[in-house]
Amino acid sequence: MIPVLTLDGPSGVGKGTVASIVAQKLNWHQLDSGAIYRAFAIAAMDCSIGMDNLDGLLELASKLDLEFKSNSEHAPLSVYLDGVDITTKLRTEKTATIASKYAQLAPLRKVLIIKQKQFQKPPGLVADGRDMGTVVFPDAPFKVFLTADSEERARRRLKQLQVDGNTGNISHTLAKVRKRDERDKNRAHSPLKPAKDALIIDTTNLTIDEVISKVMAIIEV
Ligand code: C5P
Repeated sequence: MIPVLTLDGPSGVGKGTVASIVAQKLNWHQLDSGAIYRAFAIAAMDCSIGMDNLDGLLELASKLDLEFKSNSEHAPLSVYLDGVDITTKLRTEKTATIASKYAQLAPLRKVLIIKQKQFQKPPGLVADGRDMGTVVFPDAPFKVFLTADSEERARRRLKQLQVDGNTGNISHTLAKVRKRDERDKNRAHSPLKPAKDALIIDTTNLTIDEVISKVMAIIEV
């Protein structure tokens, strides 16, 4: 059985940063499942396929031509859709909001989950998202759920937006983060929630290094 570490939690909590550092430390593969939902949203917008055209969305999802490439050791992965680098567009809050709307559709999730499972390769996988521990990798031996209060998450999210070359302000980002979390928590299928066997870490007052140590501790025991 190829081991999986699942890292779930709300937006802006720092899952992506923690996932890439831990994946590098362990030399495991990494799955940024949010990037798949975001890339799908971009593809659906590019083809003007709305929420009401489920058949069209499912066909698009099954043909989604996505590639993740590492350009430098410490930078997040670059994402290519049909061979075109969509990384900057992918990281905008607008793309995230649209992704979270499509992410409510259960049949669509089913197709995208097939792609996510393909990331489970030796020697191991670090997978971050909303339902990694509950739905996609329920048998994972290592499960973590990260939380932080919404103001802190909005600050982190804004910083990330700026690093990625996007813009925003704190009150706007806070409102967007809260709205997206509400949608992700309250949807009928695969809502954002901790797996029963997940270690819950409140990161509000922790540094990245402190969070990493707590995560590594459950793998190294
Ligand atoms: O993690 P990220 O912010 O990139 O995710 C964007 C959106 O994709 C989330 O707000 C959520 O609606 C959706 N998503 C999901 N399940 C996942 C990962 C992301 O529904 N495993």
